[in-house]
Amino acid sequence: MRGRTGCGGRRARSSTSSINPTCAFKTRTLADLGAGPTALHRPVPVDLREDWPSALRAAGFDPSQPTAWLAEGLLIYLPPQAQDALFDAITALSAPGSTVATEYVPGIVDFDGDKARALSAPLRDQGLDIDMPSLVYTGARTPVPDYLREKGWEVEGTARADLFSRYGRPLPQDAEDTDPLGEIVYVRATLGGSSRAGRV
Ligand SMILES: C[S@@+](CC[C@H](N)C(=O)[O-])C[C@H]1O[C@@H](n2cnc3c(N)ncnc32)[C@H](O)[C@@H]1O
Repeated sequence: MRGRTGCGGRRARSSTSSINPTCAFKTRTLADLGAGPTALHRPVPVDLREDWPSALRAAGFDPSQPTAWLAEGLLIYLPPQAQDALFDAITALSAPGSTVATEYVPGIVDFDGDKARALSAPLRDQGLDIDMPSLVYTGARTPVPDYLREKGWEVEGTARADLFSRYGRPLPQDAEDTDPLGEIVYVRATLGGSSRAGRV
């Protein structure tokens, strides 16, 4: 997850919350490629099932400024209650004008682990040693768009096909058939007014 704040002539600031080795790997790989951040980049390694708001504040996060939150490819790896807690905390830490970008995967309810294993088999031949189904929390969870709306966010959900079309790109023929996650709805949300749902 990345939260980025900054407005007017200030330098934008960004922070990445992830589990430590992943965070270190990403930072090192980008540096090795010579891809330096254009904003101040302050990684905050943290397990998002735990008290990440305290870690963010301790790292200098300022909740009085609007924040752009990005939770990309993350939610299916969090237990349902941690997903809700994530958006509770994001809402509590968000000044009006803040935005959230994330995705909603309705099919996680009946995620097909065997299909996922079959699809990742070629990657295992190339050295991938993870078992994706064992990383995913399946079963019922709160639909992200509904949850954010209830918290006062204005929410827009875009289906995968519509997103491809918006950017003038052809949709792979079998995108939804081969993806073990099924349909993915891309979500963006904006917080207007001052309707924050309580502090964490
Ligand atoms: C499929 S990757 C998405 C990567 C992301 N889109 C990016 O470009 O960096 C899933 C990410 O979720 C993170 N993740 C999974 N469970 C987590 C948790 N409990 N706390 C923090 N990060 C977690 C992993 O470290 C990994 O970076």
